[in-house]
Formats: sequence, C-alpha cells, structure tokens
Amino acid sequence: PRPILLTRHGESRDNVRGRIGGDSVLSDTGEIYAKKLANFVEKRLKNERTASIWTSTLQRSIITASPIVGFPKIQWRALDEINSGVCDGMTYEEIKKNMPEEYESRKKDKLRYRYPRGESYLDVIQRLEPVIIELERQRAPVVVVSHQAVLRALYAYFADRPLKEIPHIEMPLHTIIEIQMGVSGVQEKRYKLMD
Ligand code: F6P
Repeated sequence: PRPILLTRHGESRDNVRGRIGGDSVLSDTGEIYAKKLANFVEKRLKNERTASIWTSTLQRSIITASPIVGFPKIQWRALDEINSGVCDGMTYEEIKKNMPEEYESRKKDKLRYRYPRGESYLDVIQRLEPVIIELERQRAPVVVVSHQAVLRALYAYFADRPLKEIPHIEMPLHTIIEIQMGVSGVQEKRYKLMD
C-alpha cells in the first residue's frame, strides 16, 4: 500500500482577511506550516525515492510546497481552488450584503450552485477526473497540496462519501490527511501539525 497525503496550503493572507479566492501569499503562520509540512514529508517519505508533490498553480499552494526538497513537483490547474467568479476576493459577509440572492441560492444548494462566471462543486468534481485517474495510476506516494473545495472533492472520492456531503466536509488548515489504499479497503490517518 502506498500513501496519498492530502493537505490544504498554509494559511494565506486572504484566509486571515476572510476573503475567498484570490492568489495571495502565505501569512506568517502559513509560512511556519510550510516548514513543518516539509519536515513531516521528508520523514514520512524518507525511503520513497519515487514520490512526487502535486500543487495547484496558485501561489499559496506552490509556496507551501516550496520547502519540500528531493521530490519532483507537478503543478495542476485542475487542483486550483473553486473559481468564485464575480465573488472572487469578497468575504462571505460582503456577498450576503451585496448579493443576497446569490448568497441564499448557494446556501440552499451548495453542491449545484455555480458562482456567476465561476464554478460549482459539481464543476470542480468534474475537472478533477484526470487528477483522480493519475492518482489511481501512481504506484508511488503522492503529496497533494491544494485547496479547501478541491480537497473535499478528492477526499470524498477516496473515502467513498456521498456527493451531497462534499461541500460540507470538514477540511481544516494545517492538517494532513493520509490515505492508504490496501486490500482491506481505505485507511485514513490525520496529522494536525499546528494548534
Ligand atoms: O476560504 C478559503 C477557500 O479556499 C476559498 O478560496 C473558497 O472559495 C472556499 O474556501 C471554498 O469553501 P466553501 O465552498 O465552503 O465556500
């Protein structure tokens, strides 16, 4: 069995300000997580010479992976965070105040709701298909450094969780979810690297 390690990027400056989307860099706390993650990965994958690190094309994901050395890194646009379209860069409060209909429709059906000029969870799930095919094909461990919505969808696939739950799965920052696929099914461990 080989592990797949899933993690969100370290806390970003937009996370601190409560802004969704964007392409900001890490906060000081996020930078600390990046170093801890590198430490963890180097220990965990010490004897795994063929492992690889997959990031999105967004700065916060690339920067989070940057202290990890000794493994090839691959950037996937399909691992970019859900595109929040016209709401990109806003806080949830601002959306509620300035676009109350949008806010309500998302609340009613978060799985199917598509941001104007952006994506829905169903769109994200669909664009992840090539990533999942490639993950299934890999024989070596993979570390995926991505984003909240994308990781909910990826995790749900491996943990066999129903579609309707996906937008509501807990996916905290600074936590590694390790998935092992063996003969007896999927095993999962969580490592919280910061409190
Ligand atoms: O707030 C961080 C973030 O990754 C945003 O960029 C993104 O829009 C959001 O989380 C996705 O989570 P939710 O679907 O719960 O809004």
